[in-house]
This record gives sequence, structure tokens and C-alpha cells, in this order.
Amino acid sequence: MKISVIGTGYVGLIQSVGLSKLGFEVTGIDIDERKIKKLNSGISTLHEEQLEEELKLFINENLKFTSSYESVYDSDIVFLCVGTPQDDFGNADLKFLYSAVESLKKYIGDKYKTVVIKSTVPVGTCRKIKKILKDYPVEVISNPEFLREGIAFKDFFEPERIVLGFENPENIESTKLLKRVYSHFEKKGVPFVISSWETSELIKYASNAFLATKISFINEISKFSDIVGADIKTVGEAMGMDDRIGPKFLNAGIGYGGSCFPKDVKALAKQFESFELESKLINATESINQTQNIWFFENKIKKYYGDVSGKTFAVLGLAFKPFTDDLRESKAIELINILLKNGAIVKGFDYIEKARENTINKYALSDSKSLGYSLHILDELNDALFNVDGIIVATEYDFDKEDWSEIKNLVNNPVIFDGKNVMDSKTLKSLGYTYFGIGKN
Ligand code: UGA
Repeated sequence: MKISVIGTGYVGLIQSVGLSKLGFEVTGIDIDERKIKKLNSGISTLHEEQLEEELKLFINENLKFTSSYESVYDSDIVFLCVGTPQDDFGNADLKFLYSAVESLKKYIGDKYKTVVIKSTVPVGTCRKIKKILKDYPVEVISNPEFLREGIAFKDFFEPERIVLGFENPENIESTKLLKRVYSHFEKKGVPFVISSWETSELIKYASNAFLATKISFINEISKFSDIVGADIKTVGEAMGMDDRIGPKFLNAGIGYGGSCFPKDVKALAKQFESFELESKLINATESINQTQNIWFFENKIKKYYGDVSGKTFAVLGLAFKPFTDDLRESKAIELINILLKNGAIVKGFDYIEKARENTINKYALSDSKSLGYSLHILDELNDALFNVDGIIVATEYDFDKEDWSEIKNLVNNPVIFDGKNVMDSKTLKSLGYTYFGIGKN
């Protein structure tokens, strides 16, 4: 079976390498020639565990990348994995998707093809695409992905469910081909959810919005916990022991970031609006997330110093979550901007080299890695901590593994603001640190 995958971002690249590992003949297509060149020489364009090693195994064997759509001619299946970013109003912008569909037309030919939409698309998009392609011999299928950045390759091989949406889900014939593609997972007992286009499209948005809501919920409760002197960590853990609630995504912090939750929550709210509905809950999820960092800054950092102007802070973690270089909607970057705006000096650090590099590029920092005297990106944790007036944890790395009794000798003032509630506060306090968590002491 021949497969073309259009788009080599997170979804497309993992899909291409994953399917080639499953033995299919795969061509990854992208308009970005530079990416194509890199990928064909076995260099991953993403910072993802395992990905480069796997890419090297299959490239020029049953996997290749190109900027031409020609492979579509011979393909049985075409996966559309292009980005659906946020437009200026918070809607999902489908310009890349529609442009890929237009480019596709020329190469469909007479051979029957299955076009699978993996991009996150508003409910109703598959139906629209089918209309655009009505004169072509194609079937359109929705197949949302649930990969997490950083461990996306592992997620590809260990899915919790495979969701497939069809024009007519009752038609067993049309479900057969995709079931063949994913037969490896069927054999492993992964459940398949066979549904209509609309159900499948909504499953993706509802899943992300629900996870984001769990985070905003615990963040809201954390503010109350703060005032009444409760411990939000224990609250979240005990809540999670209830099967009906589950333990994940109940860690309070400075909010969720990344390329998915913020954009998908807003896009879902916009879809409600387009049908003249208002989702109070989804809007609340979004607004709690937007204000969480400011709340943390005002109620923890600023409250402690009075004025942060001229104070130096180590901000630990730059990317939107650990083990990625992705700065999109990163709460660490948002916090750095708040600190800089308030006149503070920031020394930023992330364990991932590419995350540091991306931060340097984002702020157009010079070789000295500093923005005037205000922002410095350091390659070593200890350099970032040297002489600072406060330490801010902004990404949920396991910072406990560092030697905090040694670090105490490096800093001006041993005070820690734990924006991700990941530090062992008892140990830190016993070492003489002043500790501020979120909804916990
Ligand atoms: C998310 C979903 O988890 C994936 O299932 C989905 O496929 C993906 O979006 C997508 O739509 O493409 P991802 O954006 O990689 O994956 O990141 P997560 O690991 O879900 O974390 C998102 C944010 O939530 C991070 O900023 C993290 O720090 C924050 N978070 C997570 C919390 O603040 N508290 C928690 O308890 C958990």
C-alpha cells in the first residue's frame, strides 16, 4: 500500500515515520524545501524522543520526502496533516488545509483514493472538503490525532484509541482500508471508534478542551487553596484517586501553553459562537488560563519584593513543557515578558539546547545571548542561578534532582517561586529557602 502524507510538522512527520516503521511505502510532502533536504538526509526537524533514530532507519528505504505532490498519483491513501493555526479572531485558520486540497486535485487522477484528515479541523470541515472534491474519485475520512509533543513517537505506537469518522459509518467497506493501515493496533487490542465525520471532529476538540478545563479547574481551586491554607497537591492527588476523576492534568501551575490547548479551546468557543451558542465553561477555561500567570506574578513574586524593578531572576524552563524546544504559547516566555515589563532582569535556562536557541532567536538576542542588560539565556543552570534575587520554576522539569544546598551558595537570596508546583518544598525549607508554590506552602 502506498501512502502520501501532506505536511511534515508534528503530526505529519510522526505519521510518516510511524507508518514507514509499520512497513508501508511512505512519501512525506511539504512545501518547505529546507525541511525536505534535512529530512532526506536523516535529520529530524523536530525535537522528539526516538524520532531521529527511527527516521534514519527508514529514510531512502520505504520513506522519502519531497516538495512535489506527484506521489499522490500512485497513492492509495493521502493523509492531510497540515497546520490549522489560530487566525486573528481565535478561529482555526484553514488556509493551509484548503490550499493542500487544491494542490491535491491535479494529482488525484483516475485511481480511487482515500483522503484522511488528521489536522485538527472545526466540525463540518470533512463535509466541506468532500464537497470541494465531489468530482474526484475520493473518499474523505476524519482521523484526529492525540499525540503529545516530546513523546509523540511513543504515543503513535501506544494509542489509547483510534478515532475514525466517515461520511457513512455504517458502510463497512469504507472502514476496511483504514483498519488495514492500523491493523497493528487492532491486533494489540486498541479500541477503534467508528463514527460520523462530525462526531470524530468533535471528539478531538472535546478531548483537548476537557483536559484544558481540568487544568483551569485545578488552577481556580488553587487560588482558594492559597487563601484558606490548604494544600492543592494533596487535594489534586486525592481527587485523582477517584476513578471517575482520574489523577492526570490536575497539577496546578501558571497555566497551560503549547500549540494545541490554547488554540483549540479558543477555536471550539468560536465554533459555538458560529451557531449562536455560548459556552460559558470553555470561555472560563480560557480566561482562567489567560490570567493565571498575572495572578502568580502579583500574588507571589510582586507581593514578596514590593517592586521587582532592578531585581534579577533565574527563570527555569523556557519551552511550554519539558523535553521539547517548542516556545509556542509558552507560559515561561509569558512570565519572562511580565518580569521584563516590570523592570526585572531575567536569566533564562532550559535543559533542552534547542529551547534556549529558540529563545535567543525569538528575542533576537545577540551572540552574547543578552537583551541589553535585561534578558540573558544561559547554557548552564548554575550560571543562570548565579547572584539572582529569586528563582522561578516555569516548566515542570524534575528540578529536585539538582543540588539545592550547593545552589544556595550561588544565589543572592534563596527564594523560590514554584510556578509548576514540582519542587519538594519541605526539603527546600529545611535547607533555608523561602518557598512559594501555587495553592500550597
Ligand atoms: C495536547 C494533548 O495532551 C494531546 O493529547 C493532543 O494530541 C495535543 O495537545 C494536540 O492536540 O496536538 P501537548 O500540547 O503536547 O498535547 O501538551 P500536554 O502535555 O497536554 O501539555 C499542555 C500544557 O498543559 C503544558 O503547558 C503543561 O505544562 C500544561 N499542564 C499539563 C498543566 O499545567 N498541568 C497539568 O496537570 C498538565
